[in-house]
This record gives sequence, C-alpha cells and structure tokens, in this order.
Amino acid sequence: MTQPFHVAISMDGNGRWATRRGLPRGLGHKAGVQTVRRIVEAAPDLGVTTLTLFAFSANNWNRPQVEVDGLMMLLDAYLRSDARRFVESGARLTLIGRRDRLPPSLVQAIEAVEAASAGGRRLHLRIAIDYSAREEIVRAANDWRALPAAVATGPALDAFSRLVAGAADAEAVDLMIRTGGEKRLSDFLLWECAYAELWFTDTLWPDFTEAGFAAAVEDFRRRERRFGGLSAGEQRAAG
Ligand code: IPE
Ligand code: IPE
Ligand code: MG
Repeated sequence: MTQPFHVAISMDGNGRWATRRGLPRGLGHKAGVQTVRRIVEAAPDLGVTTLTLFAFSANNWNRPQVEVDGLMMLLDAYLRSDARRFVESGARLTLIGRRDRLPPSLVQAIEAVEAASAGGRRLHLRIAIDYSAREEIVRAANDWRALPAAVATGPALDAFSRLVAGAADAEAVDLMIRTGGEKRLSDFLLWECAYAELWFTDTLWPDFTEAGFAAAVEDFRRRERRFGGLSAGEQRAAG
C-alpha cells in the first residue's frame, strides 16, 4: 500500500512574475496555470498521494475586479480543458472552499470534474478556491454542534479534524510549500498544518519546476518529525 503523503502548495508570485516582465498581472496567472499542469503531473512519481493547491483565497476578492474575473476564467478553462486528463491519469479532483460566491459556470465545471474523477486513486488533487482556513474551522464548529451525539463519539480531536478537512486523506498536511518568497500561511490550512514541515522558496510560481518540487520533497524526506516526542536515537538512549 502506498504511504499517504499530503503536500500543500501556496502558489504565490504570479503577479510579480508578470510585473517584472512589464506584462499585465493576468499573464502571470496564465503562466502559473502551466506550472500547475507540470506540478500535478510530477506529483504521483514523487510519492504524493494528496496535493492541495491554493488557487484563490477568500481575501483575494479584494483585488481589482478585472484580475478576479481573469482568475475565475482561467480556473474555469483549466478545469474544462484538463478534465479528461485527470480522469485518464487516475487523479481525483475535489474543490475546497466556498462555492456560493463563485460564477455558476465555474461551479458547474467543478462539479463535472468532481463527478467524472470520483473513482481516481492515483492522486487526490484538491484545489482551494474562495478558501479561508479560519472560515473552514468556524464551519466545522457549526457542523460539530449539529452532529448527533452518537456520531461525535471517539477522540474529539480526530472527529473534529475530519470535519475541518472534509476528507480522511487530507486531515494532516505533511509538507507545506510556498513559492514567491513570502514566509507566511495567509489563512491556508491552519488546522491541518499543525505538524506540517514548511518549505519556502523565493522562486515565483510560474518559474517553479518539477526539479524544485523534487528538491522540496527530498528535503522533507531528510527531516526528522518528532510530533513532540523524541528522535528514535534519543528514545533508545532514554531506554
Ligand atoms: C498568485 O500569486 C496567487 C493568487 C492569489 C492567485 P499573486 O497574484 O499573489 O502574485 P504576487 O504575490 O502578487 O506576485
Ligand atoms: C496566498 O497568496 C493565496 C494564494 C496563493 C492563492 P496572497 O498573495 O493572496 O497572500 P498575501 O496577500 O501575500 O498574504
Ligand atoms: Mg501574492
């Protein structure tokens, strides 16, 4: 059985990539879509079983309307053009975040890909659109209140984690990558990143490559995760 390995990526730096070239920001987002294709394709060979990509945050609505409209169109086009490729490659796609503020045609495209790819087992690709980790935690708290007592038995932390993450394979992030040079989480997967390894790179998202992705995963594999305990060596020494 494949070892679960959840990687989350905050795909930042599209705007600066374009601005540095004297191009409108929208062309940076367009270039960023090409990177998404490459990274999604590379993920299974790097052992990634769940990949969560931050495409649009709940606070990104505060950007100029023309940029927001461009992003929504790009997401729509990406989902429609790559739908068959997901299914053929054995990837399952789901959306996380709010759907009620998205253009109806985008919601339609999302639902169509979700349904067509539901049987995919090779990779679970989750795209975060209109996403806020804090809002997800509030939603989970409301769901928790509505839960019949019988369902909420067992360790509360596990049950609540499932409500926040929405999928068993997404409850904990193993590796969080952020491109674009900023070292912050910007309200992405706050709960799920409790013990995530963090990896930051100055590379702007459109310039991020499979090699960069592989380097992040290699670095992750060399790290020792202790989850508050001791390292294996220290544990032995302590008897
Ligand atoms: C892409 O990067 C992420 C999105 C919010 C769509 P940005 O658009 O934030 O790029 P920078 O940070 O301005 O360079
Ligand atoms: C984070 O990038 C969100 C996405 C990558 C979609 P932002 O560019 O929105 O984050 P801040 O504003 O630098 O915190
Ligand atoms: Mg940014």
